[in-house]
Amino acid sequence: MATIIALANRKGGSGKTTSTINLAAALARKAKRVLVVDADSQAQATISCGILPFQLSTSLYELMHLAADQPLVKAELDTGIIRGNKPFDLLPAKADLAALEAELTPAGNNQVLLKDLLLRWENIYDYILIDLPPALGLITVNGLIAARWLIIPIEPTFLSMDGLAQMTGILYKINAGLNPDLSLMGILPVKCDLRTNLARSVIREIRQNFGADRLLPSVRHDIKLAEAPSFGKTIYEYAPSCRGALDYQQVAAAILTRGGE
Ligand SMILES: Nc1ncnc2c1ncn2[C@@H]1O[C@H](COP(=O)(O)OP(=O)(O)OP(=O)(O)O)[C@@H](O)[C@H]1O
Ligand SMILES: [Mg+2]
Repeated sequence: MATIIALANRKGGSGKTTSTINLAAALARKAKRVLVVDADSQAQATISCGILPFQLSTSLYELMHLAADQPLVKAELDTGIIRGNKPFDLLPAKADLAALEAELTPAGNNQVLLKDLLLRWENIYDYILIDLPPALGLITVNGLIAARWLIIPIEPTFLSMDGLAQMTGILYKINAGLNPDLSLMGILPVKCDLRTNLARSVIREIRQNFGADRLLPSVRHDIKLAEAPSFGKTIYEYAPSCRGALDYQQVAAAILTRGGE
């Protein structure tokens, strides 16, 4: 059964999309069957895979509507997934996804649409990674209800600690009501320059507050990680031996261990 992991942080630009795509690729290199769900209307995970969102006829938006409006037919659902483009599969997003928040009431069944959708594929994949937007709307709630695990990527700066505190508050709220099974797999420091006192002290503070076992291996600052999406490539296609590629392999290994493998 698939291990479902949501990557979330209300703070924008904290490395959610970069981590989703490159962890999917790193897990695929470890022979895992992986699905990436692009749950952000910015569609940056989709674009990072070299797909142009406006050319898509089916995306997460249509599938969420299908799930909301009628009983699900597996054949229809499968048309939404892009296969064979990368070593992992992709359920893409396009800008329409932003409208979903206005079109569906943010309560009841509409909070479990993504969970219902993913049930259809839980036996096909080993890992499902959900790239969430930097907001706390209906889509993020859907992601946090669908997932078993939460990874919070953060840039180790002073201000990101506030975002981290907000995210743990959200985790407790979700645990208390909508999804008691959601657990923190780890906090993932990204864009790290470990030569700076700031990065080292923020990481030390995370270790003290959350415990060493909730701190995932750090991903160093690497411009190659920022360049790869403009070519529609993962880091393993673009620069497989760079720092970022090696670091995400370490994170993937930690995920396998924490996910119970
Ligand atoms: N380790 C890294 N080294 C250098 N640049 C990085 C690294 N990780 C991410 N970046 C860059 O930082 C920027 C923000 O990253 P990313 O888009 O993954 O964040 P995000 O949390 O998904 O953003 P949003 O909240 O807008 O969805 C991007 O330009 C990305 O290429
Ligand atoms: Mg993003």
